[in-house]
Amino acid sequence: MKKIVVAIDGFSGCGKSSTARQVASRLGYTYIDSGAMYRAATLHFLNQFTVLTNPKEIQKALDTMEISFHHNEDTGKQETYLNGLNVEKKIRSMEVSERVSDISKIREVRLELVAQQRRLGRHKGVVMDGRDIGTVVFPDAELKVFMIADIHIRAERRQKELLEKGELVELKKIVENLSTRDRIDSSRAESPLTKAGDAVEIDTSLLDFEEQVQRITDIAEQKI
Ligand code: C5P
Repeated sequence: MKKIVVAIDGFSGCGKSSTARQVASRLGYTYIDSGAMYRAATLHFLNQFTVLTNPKEIQKALDTMEISFHHNEDTGKQETYLNGLNVEKKIRSMEVSERVSDISKIREVRLELVAQQRRLGRHKGVVMDGRDIGTVVFPDAELKVFMIADIHIRAERRQKELLEKGELVELKKIVENLSTRDRIDSSRAESPLTKAGDAVEIDTSLLDFEEQVQRITDIAEQKI
């Protein structure tokens, strides 16, 4: 059977990751969370105290960074590893969320991670979510989806997720973080977040999880 690439882009907290993971599972595809890669890079830069204005230090940090995904048998989910250590929980913390957009706008970081993402998707049969998957990483993806949702709904969902991981964060702080990330992600010089001309837009404010997963799976199946 023909295999395709499904690219899912959109603003922070629209439910891209959980939707993409479920779509991948229904299609029997591999799910790749590109945001987790930028988050792991951020954690690495924080650990290394990398000075973001020093190109040599940035290169040194990138040369000593190895990001991989491994399947967790208990949760059934892919988890992110940085230099052999499981960092899945750490990369979702507010500390990383507050720094990730600044690291993600660095050209060298993007070049490195885009190259890794293309390698991960080279055999197709992948669902990848992020900000520039349909525009930069896989401009020829057979299906591109652009997800949007009301910021207050996004913040409430993110607050619930953090709480499930044991981190209690005020809603106002999450709204601020999401809107700051939206602004930096959409206005940066390197691969800003924009909707690809041929992307299908899905507003998830009023859709429940099952509806959004099924809608994307249906469109993907028509293309296979
Ligand atoms: O998807 P998630 O919210 O985990 O992504 C975290 C951050 O990583 C985004 O706010 C953005 O700054 C960056 N990112 C990116 N390009 C991608 C995926 C994520 O710049 N393809």
